[in-house]
Amino acid sequence: MEPAYIKNYSHFEQHVATLLHRAGWTVIGAKSDQSGYDFVVRKGNLVGAVCIKWLRNNVAAPQLLKFANFLDSDEGDKFNFGLFITTRGFSGPALALIRSWGKDAKIRCGIAQEKKLVGIDGAEYEDRIYDDSTTSEKIYFGIFTCKGGVGKTTIAAHLAGAFALQGFNVALVDLDPEQNLQKLVGDGVFVPNSRGRGTTIEVFDGRDWHEDSARDCRIVICDCSPALERNPTNLLEKLHYCIIPTTLNPLGLNKHGQVIRDTVTEIRQINKKAHLFVLVNNFKNPGAQKLSLLRKVYFETYKDILTTDDKFHCIDPEEVCIRASEQLYYWGIHILENPENPSSKLAFDLIGGRCYPRDDFISLADYIETKAGVGILRGE
Ligand SMILES: Nc1ncnc2c1ncn2[C@@H]1O[C@H](COP(=O)(O)OP(=O)(O)O)[C@@H](O)[C@H]1O
Ligand SMILES: [Mg+2]
Repeated sequence: MEPAYIKNYSHFEQHVATLLHRAGWTVIGAKSDQSGYDFVVRKGNLVGAVCIKWLRNNVAAPQLLKFANFLDSDEGDKFNFGLFITTRGFSGPALALIRSWGKDAKIRCGIAQEKKLVGIDGAEYEDRIYDDSTTSEKIYFGIFTCKGGVGKTTIAAHLAGAFALQGFNVALVDLDPEQNLQKLVGDGVFVPNSRGRGTTIEVFDGRDWHEDSARDCRIVICDCSPALERNPTNLLEKLHYCIIPTTLNPLGLNKHGQVIRDTVTEIRQINKKAHLFVLVNNFKNPGAQKLSLLRKVYFETYKDILTTDDKFHCIDPEEVCIRASEQLYYWGIHILENPENPSSKLAFDLIGGRCYPRDDFISLADYIETKAGVGILRGE
């Protein structure tokens, strides 16, 4: 039997209000015409917005991002902080986001238990670092499209970063003869955590790749060559997920539509099990009207494949996309700045407390896991 306080949303909201009241906060009910938060708390000069999620499962990263975006808006600016309270817990990607925001972030997250509110802090997060046991099967990702310059390398590296933030060791395999991955993150990247354990991204030249050289990596991400036949068949066969980047503009849709249809046909000759995801990269919001038209054409372009292939997914850019960003555009500048001693770095720097590339890639990891993998990464 579920305890009464989580029976439904209104019981839960009342429960959270009571706990906050006991903690010395004055709880002020929200006006019904706002959507960013559920109620306001006040103590002395401090004013906070409280967002409540009543869920039977864990909070996903996009739900948190929505509240974070609200806090960043003009309306959210009125608050000193935001409290995000939920019933059960936070997904791996959501925890990675919370951790990336740090302890001084304006947003605080927690779970309301029967007698108290429990904050998500570093220690609790660390308990959720997943064991990269060498016996578990590796998960293979390919980033592929026949077209150059649409973001394959950028996506491969930063998706690896999003998984590393979640506590996975990741192997990046460079299959592109241009070898951009090896130039940019050749040394690999270490993602530290507060217990000094951390995770790594290791980079391999496709020609030297062997599963055993990355025994402690649970996830393998291949930056594929745009010429499908140049990619080793034994790797293409292994892919569980393939991400096909595209651009959501008229010429991109037009040029890329046929390319993607051909790509899917070719991949399916080699691999029938992989989930294929079309992902919009370099997204610039054109405003509601144009976006709605572009989305319509985007889904229509792939309608045939969507009806015949149940593992083909077009990711709705309104749900998840990789936004155009200066950080991604200039990613790699560190190599030019210090060619003698090139370091490895991702475009995950916080600017004004936020980092769009990081948010976007964590959302992408979350999306793949929930839409297709359903627990595949966590062995559920
Ligand atoms: N979301 C983005 N925002 C801004 N610039 C981007 C984005 N994605 C890719 N780029 C830029 O586009 C160019 C091509 O990207 P790259 O990853 O090298 O593509 P590919 O591997 O498919 O050839 C690079 O200069 C990269 O910095
Ligand atoms: Mg490339």
